Amino acid sequence: MLRIGVLASHTGSNFQAIADACLNGDLKAVTALLICNNSRAGVMEKAARACVPAVHLSSATEPNPARLDRAICQALEDQSVELVVTAGYMKKLGPAVLHRFHNRVINVHPSLLPKYGGPGFYGARVHEAVLRAGDTGTGATVHLVNEDYDRGDILLQKTLPVHPSDTAESLAARLRPIEHQLLIDAIRLFTHDIPTHNRSAGHG
Ligand code: GRF
Repeated sequence: MLRIGVLASHTGSNFQAIADACLNGDLKAVTALLICNNSRAGVMEKAARACVPAVHLSSATEPNPARLDRAICQALEDQSVELVVTAGYMKKLGPAVLHRFHNRVINVHPSLLPKYGGPGFYGARVHEAVLRAGDTGTGATVHLVNEDYDRGDILLQKTLPVHPSDTAESLAARLRPIEHQLLIDAIRLFTHDIPTHNRSAGHG
């Protein structure tokens, strides 16, 4: 079973989709840990309901960025996490996590990257930019995470037509289930590919 660590900041619909897919057997994986940088985020409640261990780690709990990076890395290692998923996580990952989980951190983004990615493109801003540009299509992307926002290798994308009546809200709502499915499909790519050094971590 692939052990997944999710990092999230918001409501956690992506977290919920992953947890559900693990429970219903759609993914041969376990949601081993949630790390959230906002103790009041809805995703914390979702983790409690799903009985997924959750920890709040942020500049509020650890003001030193290097120590926070190491604390996040340690929390992931303590749960023998093999794949890190950032889903609506609004902070950049530090070098310790990126080095330890090289090519094993994925992110879901609500646009067809490389369009509408990078600093400043998050939430409604992405959809507003799509509408402003008059694009007839948009979509979602799952990509590997590196030190640059939204610039790692693209793993999967799915398109969605933009209707003349669309608003940022309607696009976000229609994209959400697409994001969930894409993320689950991307995680499945990793369930066949657990490196040997992680297999020996004591969980099969
Ligand atoms: C999603 O749209 C994701 O693509 C973006 O942030 C949002 C998080 O939503 N990066 P949720 O908290 O998983 O519901």
